[in-house]
Amino acid sequence: MRVIPIASGKGGVGKSLLAANLAIALAKNDRSVTLVDLDLGGSNLHLVLGETMSYGGGGPAGIGSLIADSSCTVNDIGRPTEYEGLTFIAGDGETPGLANLQSSAKRRIIRQLGQADSDYMILDLGAGTSFNTLDFFLMTSQGLVVTTPTPTSTVNAYLFLKNAVFRIMQNAMPRKSPGGQLLESLRSEPTGMRGTYIPRLLDELEKADPDNHARCLEHLSRFRPRLVMNMLEDPKDSEKAGKLRRSCRQYLGLELNHLGIMYRDDLQDVALSSRLPIIHYKPQSVLSQAVYRIADKLISTETDDTENFEPAGAEESYQEASMEADSDFAARTDYVEDLLHTGALSTGDLIETVKMQQIELNQMRKENNLLKAKLVRAIKQGYTL
Ligand SMILES: Nc1ncnc2c1ncn2[C@@H]1O[C@H](COP(=O)(O)OP(=O)(O)OP(=O)(O)O)[C@@H](O)[C@H]1O
Ligand SMILES: [Mg+2]
Repeated sequence: MRVIPIASGKGGVGKSLLAANLAIALAKNDRSVTLVDLDLGGSNLHLVLGETMSYGGGGPAGIGSLIADSSCTVNDIGRPTEYEGLTFIAGDGETPGLANLQSSAKRRIIRQLGQADSDYMILDLGAGTSFNTLDFFLMTSQGLVVTTPTPTSTVNAYLFLKNAVFRIMQNAMPRKSPGGQLLESLRSEPTGMRGTYIPRLLDELEKADPDNHARCLEHLSRFRPRLVMNMLEDPKDSEKAGKLRRSCRQYLGLELNHLGIMYRDDLQDVALSSRLPIIHYKPQSVLSQAVYRIADKLISTETDDTENFEPAGAEESYQEASMEADSDFAARTDYVEDLLHTGALSTGDLIETVKMQQIELNQMRKENNLLKAKLVRAIKQGYTL
């Protein structure tokens, strides 16, 4: 079984949207898929999946049942969905303490999930860097990180990966070893590990604890997370991924592959309010096609041996993302033209939109003039730039 955890530093970037739609796309490619809501503090994946799953009368509710009932197994909590081959495991808002799992409970969940019988298991995780989220993410070496092109979102994606690297190092060393102590002392500092420069930390570790240093390097070399950039507005947005990649390489010694891009699509709002996953609601939309493209990439690498995964494809993966961004942008324009031709969008609607944009532009021009006038006044009053 291939486990695909989906995480992000910042919330609201499209993890649940990707998880639900990717699960359906893989199921439509004749793969058996288990989709799991592991956003244990804020489960809402069932809403993205729609009201299509059948709630077996009186059956166990979801992940929480694994903790509440020691005889419960992963096979007891899967619910069939209307999509052939897709099983859903709900999050569970009713089991107390689920958002702050004890390590033993977390281990039990991870062990149970690992025993499910599917080709793929997709995990929708909560945003942020809690140990729960990091440990679910690290169930595999090739988890997906979702970000949008905004600076806060990419910085948070970077910090998420930094925390994951730190967690891998921590897991690779016994707590009482010199290396374990070194990490523990960093973690308990008031600034935490925010300012920690990972290559320097590795150097220190090599001096303090050479055996564990070697083990850390080995574990880190297997870590190959993949990036999905969502909510693009413009082909240029895909360049933000390159910056994130450079930061990961330089400061974390980590090679981040690019798995795909997805544009913002207004149809998603309509799909959500109709309680339908967009891939079901509008399979031909640019967003649905972008999800199918991601599914195709996963399927085409099914036979790759993860242990010997070569980072050689990283460069091409960014070029590919940039080309995808260009072609999807063109597809979006074609789509508006199609709407016009079929009458779904009237010329009147389009004129209205252009008028609104002109009003917005005029407003921005006025604000710009105001700022210029202020600047000129300030300079006249003797400020030097
Ligand atoms: N490409 C897109 N186009 C249009 N809307 C989108 C797109 N991606 C996500 N959205 C919308 O953005 C909102 C947030 O998406 P989603 O709930 O999937 O994010 P999330 O990362 O799971 O959030 P959280 O961290 O709260 O769990 C939703 O309303 C979703 O419909
Ligand atoms: Mg979510």
